[in-house]
Amino acid sequence: MEALKHAIETQGTVLPGNILKVNSFLNHQIDPQLMQQIGTTFAEAFKTAGITKVLTVEASGIAPAVMTGLAMHLPVVFARKSKSLVVKDDVYSAEVYSYTKHTTNHIYIEKPFLQQTDRVLIIDDFLANGEATKGLITITETAGANVGGIGIVIEKTFQSGGAYLREHGYPVVSLAQIASLAEQTVTFAD
Ligand code: G4P
Ligand code: NA
Ligand code: NA
Repeated sequence: MEALKHAIETQGTVLPGNILKVNSFLNHQIDPQLMQQIGTTFAEAFKTAGITKVLTVEASGIAPAVMTGLAMHLPVVFARKSKSLVVKDDVYSAEVYSYTKHTTNHIYIEKPFLQQTDRVLIIDDFLANGEATKGLITITETAGANVGGIGIVIEKTFQSGGAYLREHGYPVVSLAQIASLAEQTVTFAD
């Protein structure tokens, strides 16, 4: 997606630890026009996948997920985060380890928002090691629902998440693929 690559090139900055900071349009301030384009691009990519629901995790996944749900005329559910284990029988939950923050979070969704008949499109802002996405897959499959696709705004292809998900047969579409953030420079994969 050219507009997204342009935004990364002109507004993104590289932080130590291979982190791309995009706080001016995705992770703090949000560019609604760009988000809408992101949503229509995901909707086009997954239009024949039989999707019934868009799923993401708070906070930064919500903007692209809502725009995708708007374009697909589908509801959007975001998993909530919790520092402690959620032991309630009315929720589906999963553990998400963050390599960047060295913390384990729990994410959960209330059971009525995921049905066995659902075919879910998972949307997230970043794909690094894929821990957040794996948590959403666990929740979806625990509910007896299916994952129909995974849409990622920015994939860091030098980390393991994308390869893992594709090897396991999940259709992954990422709108910008970053091959390297070495020497504070963004190098796209294509
Ligand atoms: P993973 O889910 O792919 O394994 O990612 P990881 O644990 O490495 O990342 C933890 C958090 O950092 C996630 O956000 C993820 O989206 C974000 N992240 C990973 N790499 C980058 C990057 O290069 N730049 C930016 N800006 N974020 C990155 P989160 O903790 O869920 O936070 P939130 O923003 O959704 O609140
Ligand atoms: Na994030
Ligand atoms: Na995220």
